[in-house]
Amino acid sequence: PMIDRVFNASQQEIKLAHKLGIERAIVVPGDLDRQERVIDLLSEELNSSLDLLLPLGNNIITVLGGSTVAGVAKHLSPKLNRYRELLFVPGRGAVGESVELQSNTVAQVMASQVGGQHKGLYLPENVSSEALRLLIQDANIANAISNIYNSNAVIHGIGRADEMVKRRNLDVIMRSKLREKGAVAECFGYFFDQQGRVIDRIPRIGLQLEDLDKIPHVFAVAAGASKANAIEAYMHHAPKQTWLITDEGASTKVLKGK
Ligand code: G3H
Repeated sequence: PMIDRVFNASQQEIKLAHKLGIERAIVVPGDLDRQERVIDLLSEELNSSLDLLLPLGNNIITVLGGSTVAGVAKHLSPKLNRYRELLFVPGRGAVGESVELQSNTVAQVMASQVGGQHKGLYLPENVSSEALRLLIQDANIANAISNIYNSNAVIHGIGRADEMVKRRNLDVIMRSKLREKGAVAECFGYFFDQQGRVIDRIPRIGLQLEDLDKIPHVFAVAAGASKANAIEAYMHHAPKQTWLITDEGASTKVLKGK
């Protein structure tokens, strides 16, 4: 298709995007599981993708947490803010997991890296649906959430279910349910099995998976062979406009289909 010629996509990238049902896949050399410098390559591709797709002028970018997105945040280019006003907002109110991985921190790092603005959303990650209903009536929280809904881009990671179970301190019942039902991926609070079936969901404030469809540009950054199954599982739900920025380690494994 046209889009592949425009971006000079490689055969591997075309096949990967096609298999995952998304607009574009960018594959950098190496395997993040074994080579830390792959983060630099992913960052370069994220910078050029953002520069290509974000309109000039005002932009609101919602960012999620995790080690991959936190890693690329440090390399975000100040060039992006040259003809744009970038506002970075956290996609969720995670308080509880380690500070440097929280979307609040990542939004702040990105903003200071490019010389843009950021807003915080300081809320606990795991709340009951009753508490959730009350919290979203608060004016400050409602304001932060409206920024999320009005954002024109999202940058997110894709988690392995086993890692996320540890990181998010889930209770014993949920842990065993996820194990029994074969959860492989976590994204936006949802746990998926290999076929993309939803196994469970953590109620949380902020960006919901259903909201992604309305956001013009969605960037998923996930790499390393160990992420292949998680990437494939989540992509059953990814909106079509998603651009996946990944590496050969993950891509080769997804394309082999194992
Ligand atoms: O929900 C997705 C995770 O936050 C991704 O985290 O990049 O550390 O694997 P990770």
